[in-house]
Amino acid sequence: MTGATLSTASSSNELLKEIRARTVDLHRALDEKVADRSVLSEEGYVRFLTMHARIIPAAETWLAGRREFLEIPDAKDRLRNGSLQSDFCALGIPMPAVENMSFLNEKTSVAGICYVLEGSRLGGAYLASLIGQGGARHPVNFLCQGRERPLWRTFLDWLSSLEQSRANIDGAADAAENMFRTYLSVLD
Ligand code: HEM
Repeated sequence: MTGATLSTASSSNELLKEIRARTVDLHRALDEKVADRSVLSEEGYVRFLTMHARIIPAAETWLAGRREFLEIPDAKDRLRNGSLQSDFCALGIPMPAVENMSFLNEKTSVAGICYVLEGSRLGGAYLASLIGQGGARHPVNFLCQGRERPLWRTFLDWLSSLEQSRANIDGAADAAENMFRTYLSVLD
């Protein structure tokens, strides 16, 4: 991950270690593909938001129906579909069609899906500061949603509280990989 340092906390967390090992290259590929078109331009920013908007409504609807998700601290405050819709409204463009997310089913790991969505806030905070410094006047409700709270910290604490069984670890890493691959596939 370019210039980024993986948060060292909970390095004893086997589940986190394995998810990171299995997705670090996918994250780098996604990071580079997003950077192909600068988010400082309106075209690049709409492309970035559209990528999220093709995934987040379906993923969050699925999460909201999972008991395990509701056990994550501040679960409901982690949902960003509303702030995404307000950014599209401010840009005066309709939300795109949602991607087929058939891999989201009763067996899919909430931990793996949330790792990608919650982690994307870290990149989001970085991009919001880039946009602020670059003087672009993009609506950033989605990028800034929840940033006043330690949502990544409390997510990592929840992740380390899960049973670190082989089945949980494999399930979470599989789900996180699928989620990154879906992000890469919907980014035009
Ligand atoms: C240009 C686009 C992006 C940039 C510049 C970026 C940058 C970053 C940065 C700086 C971190 C924090 C690393 C740290 O302090 O630990 C991070 C973490 C992360 N990002 Fe991205 N990111 C981008 C796009 C994305 C997207 C689109 C997703 C997923 C949809 C994503 C998922 C993650 C995850 C899961 C982590 C947590 C890694 C870990 O600590 O295990 N990123 N990213």
